[in-house]
Amino acid sequence: MMFVFGTRPEFIKLYPVIMEAQRRQHDVTIVNTGQHREMLDQLLDEMGVTVDFDLKVMTHQQSLAEILARTLGPLDEVVDRVRPDHLFVHGDTSTTLAGSLISLYRQVPLSHVEAGLRTYNKFSPFPEEMNRQITGVLADYHFTPTEVTRANLEREGKNPERIFVVGNTAIDMLKYTIKDDFRHPVLDEAGDRKLILITVHRRENISELSQIFAAINDVAIKYGDTHRLVYPIHMNPVVRQAADQYLTADAIRIIEPLGTTDFHNMLAHSYLVMTDSGGIQEEAPSLGKPVLVLRDTTERPEGVDAGTLRLVGTGRDDIVREACRLLDDEVEYRRMAAIANPYGDGTTAPQIMDVMAGLSTRS
Ligand code: UD1
Ligand code: UDP
Repeated sequence: MMFVFGTRPEFIKLYPVIMEAQRRQHDVTIVNTGQHREMLDQLLDEMGVTVDFDLKVMTHQQSLAEILARTLGPLDEVVDRVRPDHLFVHGDTSTTLAGSLISLYRQVPLSHVEAGLRTYNKFSPFPEEMNRQITGVLADYHFTPTEVTRANLEREGKNPERIFVVGNTAIDMLKYTIKDDFRHPVLDEAGDRKLILITVHRRENISELSQIFAAINDVAIKYGDTHRLVYPIHMNPVVRQAADQYLTADAIRIIEPLGTTDFHNMLAHSYLVMTDSGGIQEEAPSLGKPVLVLRDTTERPEGVDAGTLRLVGTGRDDIVREACRLLDDEVEYRRMAAIANPYGDGTTAPQIMDVMAGLSTRS
C-alpha cells in the first residue's frame, strides 16, 4: 500500500490510516511530495514518522502549475520503482491530483480518502473543488465521510458498491492528540481572557486578506480587554506580509504554525474559531467550538446544519457583525457551541482497512 501526501492536512488525516495499515502488517510505502516543508516536517517529527521517499518539490510562492509539474515525474519514478498494489490519496490538494494522475498512468488501483466533498463551484475553494472532482473520476474506491457526501458521489454516477461511508479520519486523529492536562505558554499568557483562534490561508482568499484581517483587527480592538486572539500563521509569505500589515491590535498574538497536538488542544481550549480552513470545520464541531467560516462556500454542510459552523464570507462588515453577535449574545453562543460530531466515532481508519481486507479476500 502506497500513501502519497504533501501538505499538513493530508498528513494529519492519513496518519491514522497509515498507523492502522502498519498495525495490520501491510507492506506500507510512505511518499511525501514535499509540497509543504516546515509545516509538514514539524508534524512528521512530532508523530515520529519516517517517510520512504521525499520528493522535495516545494518552492516559495509556488504556482499551481509548478507544483503539479514538479511532482509528476518524480512520483512516477517512485511508483514505477515500488510497483504498489494500491495507492491512497487524501482530499483535494495539488499532491492529491498528482497522485491520482500517476495511479492512472501506472494503472494502480486508487483509493480516495475524504471523497465526495463538493461545493460544485469551480472556483471555490480554488483549486481544491476541481482537484477532488478529478480525483473522484479517477478513484476506484471512495472513502466518504457522511451520507451527504455519499449522495454527491452517487449523483455523479460513481459505482455505489465502491463508495464506503466511514466518517472522517480527523476524528480518529483527535483521539491521538487531545489531552486533559494540556498546557501551553499562550494559554498561560491569556490567563482568564477567552481565546479566539484564527487561521487564514486559502488561495481564493489572498485578494481578500485586507478585508479579513481588518475585520479581525476590529474585533481585537473591541474585545481586547476580555479576549485574546491567537493566530498560528501559515508559512505562505503573502499571508504573512498581509498579517503584519493589518493585524496590529494589542490583543492579537501571531505565532508560528503549531504541531497537531498543540493545535487540537488549543482548539479545545478556545471560545470561538475564525477560519477559512477545511479540516478545522470538521474538528471544531466535534469539540463543540463555534466557527465563523471566512469563506463564501463550504463543502462541509454537515457542520452548518448542526449549527456549529456559520458561513460569514470575507467582507469586513459581515465578519465583524457576526463576531460581535456571537461574543455579545450568550444564548446564541451556547446554541452554536452544542457538541455535534457528524464525522463518525473515530474508527474511520480501521473501517478503511476492513474494506481493504474484504477486497483482497475477494480477488
Ligand atoms: C495547500 C493546498 C490547500 C491546503 C493547504 C493546507 C493546494 C493547491 N493547496 O495550500 O488545499 O488547504 O495546503 O495548508 O494544494 N510554505 C512554506 N513552508 C511550508 C508550506 C508552505 O514556506 O511548509 C509557503 C511556500 O512559499 C509555498 C506557499 O507557502 O509556496 C504556499 O504553499 P502551497 O502548498 O502552494 O499552498 P497552501 O496555501 O499551503
Ligand atoms: N493545524 C495544525 N497546526 C496549525 C494550524 C492547523 O496542526 O498551526 C491542523 C488543523 O488541526 C487541521 C489541519 O491542520 O487538522 C488543517 O490544515 P490547513 O488549515 O492548513 O488546511 P485545510 O484543512 O484548509 O486544507
